[in-house]
Amino acid sequence: MKTNSAVQDKTRMKKLKMPGSNDIACGIDFGTSNTTVALAHGSDDQITLVPVEEEHLTIPSTIFFPAESSMVMFGRKAINAHVAREEGRFMRSFKRVLGTSLMKEGTQISGTKTRFEKIIGHFIEDIKNKAELVVDRNIENVVAGRPVHFVDGNEKADKEAQIQLEAIFAAAGFNNIRFQYEPIAAAFAHELTMGDTERLAVVMDIGGGTSDFTIMRLSERYIKKQDRQEDILSNAGIRIGGNDFDRALSLKSFMPLLGLGSLWGSKGLGFPITPFFDLSELSKIQYMYTHKYKRDLRALIGQSTDKYLTQRLLSIVEEEQGHTLMASVEETKIQLSSCEQTTADLSFIEAGLQAHIKRTEFEESLQASIDNIQITINDCIGMANVKAEDVALVILTGGGTAIPMLQQITHRIFPNAEVSDGNRLSSVGFGLACDARRYYLGIN
Ligand SMILES: Nc1ncnc2c1ncn2[C@@H]1O[C@H](COP(=O)(O)OP(=O)(O)OP(=O)(O)O)[C@@H](O)[C@H]1O
Ligand SMILES: [Mg+2]
Repeated sequence: MKTNSAVQDKTRMKKLKMPGSNDIACGIDFGTSNTTVALAHGSDDQITLVPVEEEHLTIPSTIFFPAESSMVMFGRKAINAHVAREEGRFMRSFKRVLGTSLMKEGTQISGTKTRFEKIIGHFIEDIKNKAELVVDRNIENVVAGRPVHFVDGNEKADKEAQIQLEAIFAAAGFNNIRFQYEPIAAAFAHELTMGDTERLAVVMDIGGGTSDFTIMRLSERYIKKQDRQEDILSNAGIRIGGNDFDRALSLKSFMPLLGLGSLWGSKGLGFPITPFFDLSELSKIQYMYTHKYKRDLRALIGQSTDKYLTQRLLSIVEEEQGHTLMASVEETKIQLSSCEQTTADLSFIEAGLQAHIKRTEFEESLQASIDNIQITINDCIGMANVKAEDVALVILTGGGTAIPMLQQITHRIFPNAEVSDGNRLSSVGFGLACDARRYYLGIN
């Protein structure tokens, strides 16, 4: 399969002649929702973030495989093609598949069973090409970010996930590949400008797929150390992130408009909940578009008591608008970080349909996730054997840390800490390049 950019094709041709260079290394933060890449150059001291989609320094981790062409699209272009209802297969959050049984199963794309290694490989290769376009060289050295746990409570699957990702990076053409925990990378990025006083810091990285925490001693003077192991006191992580917050909000505030909680059948039973859970889970949406699923759903809705609601559910599935609905849920969640209430326009489902949602309603839907995140933070504090009151600095990174409720919890747990939340979406990629510079180029 080809990429759709003429520039990238040109890059490929050039790559045949381009020498590799031991003078360049990169950090890649392949995220569940967004990806960044930063370059470290041996020739100067600079770390630079790469424009990965036109002038943007982040690219949504999405792919679109058009039905009628082999030109694969990435990022915003992929989202736009999907929103414009071009025929093809849209995919997002594929990082979450690493370490799961889906890696072996693969998925159907244009009628062909395709392995996830190949799908993720397309995306990583595209990112690599864009970085190489900046330096006009092959890039062979990479520090790749990884969550503390790809998979919760399964060490074997977690190891497997890293091995799978390493193989994908190798197939994309990297010769030297190392991994670093994403929150540690964010700490390195912060350390560059923090002054020489040592501070006990906690990094909270709440992304689209995982929430990761590191407790670490930081100081600008430590940047020169080759080995930072003794400064890292603990790492903890859980597979809960923005995707899970979206699902919770969808089930609480959107699905009732499509019939969740309505009645079904002559005995007045509840309408089966499975379709609502499927429609709120990114990895299940595609499966709802199969012929059999649609047929079964039609039969189910035949016995629905509140058809004016469940017809909306059917229309989303028939019209294959599941990802559009999830995008609306995500947008609502993001707005609720800065507004007390908002209105989602759902006229793509039915003329004039809207959802009015208060922040408090979203917060109620978050409670279970927040409880688990708090347990993970407490584990991290316990493993580090420090007192939460002694933490002097909290570094917030990842899009999820914009949620006011999470910020309030942070203040409660670490009452004496200064909170820093600059560069939420790029600090991990930047810090990975700092690590790459130290390791591959010997520059501190
Ligand atoms: N202002 C905001 N309020 C709440 N959530 C937000 C906001 N901005 C972005 N998000 C959410 O943050 C998530 C993306 O964050 P980020 O880009 O840090 O994730 P990622 O690095 O791709 O994922 P991961 O590190 O888990 O693999 C998405 O779920 C997005 O909806
Ligand atoms: Mg991240």
